[in-house]
Amino acid sequence: MEVSKAVSERKSIRSFLDKKVSNELIKELLHKSARSPSGGNLQPWKIYVINNESMKKFLHFQEKWTKPETPAYDIYPPKLKEPYRTSRFELGEKMYELLEIPREDKDGRIAQVMKNFRFFDAPCAFFCFVDRQMGPPQWSDLGMFLQTFMLLAKEAGLDTCAQEAWSMKHDSVSEFVQADQEDILFCGMCIGYQDETQKVNSLNSDRRPLQDWAKFL
Ligand SMILES: Cc1cc2nc3c(=O)[nH]c(=O)nc-3n(C[C@H](O)[C@H](O)[C@H](O)COP(=O)(O)O)c2cc1C
Repeated sequence: MEVSKAVSERKSIRSFLDKKVSNELIKELLHKSARSPSGGNLQPWKIYVINNESMKKFLHFQEKWTKPETPAYDIYPPKLKEPYRTSRFELGEKMYELLEIPREDKDGRIAQVMKNFRFFDAPCAFFCFVDRQMGPPQWSDLGMFLQTFMLLAKEAGLDTCAQEAWSMKHDSVSEFVQADQEDILFCGMCIGYQDETQKVNSLNSDRRPLQDWAKFL
């Protein structure tokens, strides 16, 4: 698959088929993804894969977890500036319009958000952690790793959705995967085969025009 094709075809998938993904394939994709660049070659990513039995156990564990959790970090700045605020708002509105969940239907919208915590029914997933010692440069390295993984997954016929939502479940996820105390959870990654019959997967996110964010001097 051409890189351009993988880039244009990758999109966030929020409903998956009940179709297994082998650990061997995930291992191969992770191995290849580790060719991602990182400043000073630190390779700061720490990955925990859950699949098959561990996925069943994890979902069961999540259901039983009742302790309140402190979010690992602010997903967005508290006062998100323009144009970012509008981009975020438009994405949400586009998705809820597609799903026919009006703004007044607060429960409906919350129920959609909560699907994050079942990995949108993906059969396989991973969590990406990083040592708390690391700062913005190393967090950006995680992004490179994650995008490389998502493109390679596309090439392998798989679909994905990165999930910062899991930062709200830092404690329970850390306990389940037995993460090192020094590590912080950045995000989850749903992995599987998209359910093409589900409207949510027809969502196509917009991009701001190039002249708004690139200047040629
Ligand atoms: C690091 C990261 C975290 C994300 N977290 C979530 C999430 O928690 N839940 C979700 O539904 N989508 C999440 N997304 C998906 C974004 O909303 C999506 O990438 C963006 O709207 C662009 O759409 P596209 O991926 O389909 O191109 C995340 C994406 C990234 C890169």
